[in-house]
Formats: sequence, C-alpha cells, structure tokens
Amino acid sequence: MGLGKLRDGLAPTPPMGWNSWNRFKCGIDETIVRETAEALLDTGMRAAGYRYVVVDDCWSEKRRAANGDVLPDRTKFATGMKALADEVHARGLRFGMYTDAGTMTCAEYPGSLGYEFRDAARFAEWGIDYLKVDWCHTDGMSPRELYTKWALALAATKRPIVHSVCEWGRAHPWEWAGSLGHLWRTSWDILDTWESLLAIIDRQVDLYPFAGPDHWNDPDMLEVGNGGMTESEYRAHFSLWAILAAPLMAGNDVRTMSDGVRRMLTAPEVIAVDQDPLGKQGTRIARDGETEVWRRDLADGSCAVALFNRDAVERDIAYEFAGRALVRDLWAREDVGEFRDGYAARVPSHDVVMVRTSTRP
Ligand code: GLA
Repeated sequence: MGLGKLRDGLAPTPPMGWNSWNRFKCGIDETIVRETAEALLDTGMRAAGYRYVVVDDCWSEKRRAANGDVLPDRTKFATGMKALADEVHARGLRFGMYTDAGTMTCAEYPGSLGYEFRDAARFAEWGIDYLKVDWCHTDGMSPRELYTKWALALAATKRPIVHSVCEWGRAHPWEWAGSLGHLWRTSWDILDTWESLLAIIDRQVDLYPFAGPDHWNDPDMLEVGNGGMTESEYRAHFSLWAILAAPLMAGNDVRTMSDGVRRMLTAPEVIAVDQDPLGKQGTRIARDGETEVWRRDLADGSCAVALFNRDAVERDIAYEFAGRALVRDLWAREDVGEFRDGYAARVPSHDVVMVRTSTRP
C-alpha cells in the first residue's frame, strides 16, 4: 500500500447504510437483519441512499472451528452468512460485517489477529461489501501495521470491500488511514446523549483536510431515533454529520421508527449536502459562546451553512457573506429569499438552522 490516499471509487461519497450496534448491541440475529433490509426499502431509506446493512459485534460463535475458520453463531444466524448476504443483495442492498484486529472483539468474540487473510477470504466468499475492523484487545500493536495487513487481506480477495477502520482516533488515523481504508473513526463511541454529541463534534474541527472521496473521517454512527435526545438535538446531529461529510450509518430500529424519525433520516436536501460530489468536508468558521457557524463548500459553487445553537436558550445566529445570495432552508425545503452581506436566523436551543447559500453576481 502506498502513501497515496485511496481513490478506488468504492466510496466516492460517504457510505450510507445501517449498522446493528447502536440500537441492538449483542442482541442481533438474522431476523432483525432481514426485517431491517425490508424496512430500508419500505420506508424509502434505500431510495434516500442508505445501501449498506452492517452486522456489528456478537455475530459469531465464541470459538473458531478446528481448521481456524470463524463461524457464525448457529442460533442467531442459522441460515448462514452467505444466504443472508444473498437476501440482502436481492433487495438491492449491500452487506457488511464486523471483526476486530486484535485477539478478541470488544464483546469478546474471536478477533482476527493472525487470521486476517483467512477471515477476509471467508467474508468475501459470504459476499460482504463492507468490513468494519475494530481495535479492542490489541495491546502494544501498531494500528498502522495491522490496518495495512487488513488492506492487503481485503485486496487479496479481489472483491470490492469498503474498509472501515475503527481505531477511535487514538493514533491519529486521519494521518495514515486514508491510504488503507475508506473511513476511519475519529473518536470514542457515540452515546445517545447531547454531551456525547458535542464532545464528538468538537473533535472533528481540525480534521477537514484529511477527508475526500474514498477516504472519510468517521465521527461514528447515527443515534437519530434511539430516544435519548430531543428532535432538535437529533436534527443538530444529522445536520452536522452532513456538514462533516460523515458516513451516514443509521443506528436505530428502522422497522419501528416514527414518521418524524423517518423524515429526518431521509431529508433529501440535507442528505444531498452529505453526499455532495465535491467531497469537501465542512469547517467551523465562527464560534461565539455557545453559538457556531459551520460551512461546507458544494460542487455547484453554493455553500451549506449550519447555524448551530448549543445553548440552553434560543439564539440569533448570523452568517456573513459578501454580496448577494439566495438562501434556501434545507430542512423546510423552501427558498427563504435573497439576502445581502449575510443571513441571520433565530435558532432554538440545541438545534440547527441549515441553509444553502448561492451567491448572485
Ligand atoms: C467498539 C466500537 C463500536 C462497536 C463495539 C462492538 O466499541 O467502537 O462501534 O463496534 O466495539 O463491541
């Protein structure tokens, strides 16, 4: 693997999909996966861009087979991973799985250390399109070396597989993972709380230079719809992820989500920002106490702007620009009008107003 960042076309825009962990933890099984795949179609999530169905930790038997193969848990995944992957593919979706670079996964299932090529070959036979490689139980090991091994093992399968590096940002993966993986976690696990969200957002501020098509910063999977935050807080979460060009991996139960959650997760104009083909991650351009302005440059020359209120009370937040611009509200999906030299809005507590500004000659 050279030093150049990946540009292999496997993740030209940030990957979108669903992952079992945030909602189901170890209570995962093939019925949930199957019903989730169906629900992604029925709810319009697939049409909105969600493609990957990823089974996270706790899918395997606690011991490898005598020949070294890792085996799917025979009660949770009685059908087997190949058949399940086929079902997912038949719905026009892609299938993803999880392993760990160390001796055990975080939930203490078999890790892949020393089995990288064997496991990659097995996963490829099952038909995976995405692999998340976690970093628990790796004492004293070099993430750069082990993820290089994983990149080689995945390449050796000859199957296109998105490589999700899950090292939590400890060894500054943004400095080296871009040549090895398509996305890399930049922070500890997200929790379904406002405090966790803010802590993660603050860690992303300086990472924008490292992201681009086929290599993305990953501030972690979505908590939208899991119930621990308010609608405003989830709107802020989803808006900031779009500004950050973050992978959008839904982490809720899409089979039973409310209509409000479904509308948030499928908001077309916010997703369009996340998936903008220029692939340029946004930045925090202003901060004043508990109010912030984030901006992302888009391929058509316009900008996405998030007026972000972290305060416990509503705030007026202004975004300044030169000249005249047409302002469109991306959540309301309506033009607000033409403004000169700036745009200001009253933003509710723990919420975001998100607009696109197109400057006028
Ligand atoms: C780590 C990862 C999480 C999840 C769990 C599974 O904590 O960061 O995203 O995969 O392991 O045990």
